[in-house]
Amino acid sequence: MPNDRLVIRRPDDWHVHLRDGAMLKAVLPFTARQFGRAIVMPNLKPPVTHAADAVAYRDRILAALPDGVAFTPLMTAYLTDGTDADDLARGFEDGVFAAAKLYPANATTNSAHGVTDVARIAPVLERMAEIGMPLLIHGEVTDPSVDIFDREAVFIDRILAPLLDRHPSLRVVLEHVTTSDAVQFVRAHAGSGRIGATITAHHLLINRSHIFQGGIRPHLYCLPIAKRETHRVALVEAATSGEGPFFLGTDTAPHTVTAKEAACGCAGCFTAANALELYAEAFDEAGALDRLEAFASLNGPRFYGMPANEERVALERRPSVTPDVLLVSEGDAVLPFRSGETLRWSFAGVV
Ligand code: NCD
Ligand code: ZN
Repeated sequence: MPNDRLVIRRPDDWHVHLRDGAMLKAVLPFTARQFGRAIVMPNLKPPVTHAADAVAYRDRILAALPDGVAFTPLMTAYLTDGTDADDLARGFEDGVFAAAKLYPANATTNSAHGVTDVARIAPVLERMAEIGMPLLIHGEVTDPSVDIFDREAVFIDRILAPLLDRHPSLRVVLEHVTTSDAVQFVRAHAGSGRIGATITAHHLLINRSHIFQGGIRPHLYCLPIAKRETHRVALVEAATSGEGPFFLGTDTAPHTVTAKEAACGCAGCFTAANALELYAEAFDEAGALDRLEAFASLNGPRFYGMPANEERVALERRPSVTPDVLLVSEGDAVLPFRSGETLRWSFAGVV
């Protein structure tokens, strides 16, 4: 039955945290079996700031790939106040860097070395605009007096809008958008073709009340934090619209159970174990499975100026159970988003 099987071009994940070492080995197979390419975030400790670091990290990723799996990691540079525009531009022109990531200093996990004021990197942004290198933005202000649920909307007003005005040809991706404000802003600039936005699976599936359902649920805590239901609805509407600026980026961000279930738990949801099944669930609920391919497999490559993948993957409407805890190394485990729960869709592999 055609409605029970969906064949789409192989998707890409335009925002992923693969980590390093034992964690990299444990989580990479999940991303690599579903996605053809992924934009790999540079917030390691220490961060990936230079082209040479990115080459070494890419080699470690490729070495950790299971045999016979075709997967291309696309590397990013972590911008700091001291980023050298020449090194960055060379990295992009040599094909090492696909983009550069702006973390406002201390906005999220491993962002302590981030940018303290975007004015400081104006010459770097100028150079990126000249060479067509995309800027990927964690869009939250760090001002502690701004309510955590308002930090994205305030960032758009205070930082992003003026930044786009100052750099009229800079290409920008607003990462993991969580608000209707972000959706509206991206739409308002869509005509320029220079702005994109990634949307995670978890932000399509949960709102902020889920984080406190029956008690505090640390595994649903990520940054930007999930917002109220009206925002989730706006995100579903944007993702399922088929509109070019909106594309898939899971922001899968694994942390050990110990680091999550703590008095001061880390931010990040690990969604790679069944990312496509989660997106299929959200699109199915919205009656928009026919738009999943645009969101997951076509819009991202178009924004990045890359061809869509030639391979196809299949999803089938039959129950799948999200894996339970995943052992990373002796004593260290990760809990997948919705672990142990049954989803309506199954990933049937590359066809
Ligand atoms: C990410 C991480 O753990 O690296 N955490 C998260 O909550 N999304 C960092 C990030 O993308 O903000
Ligand atoms: Zn992220």
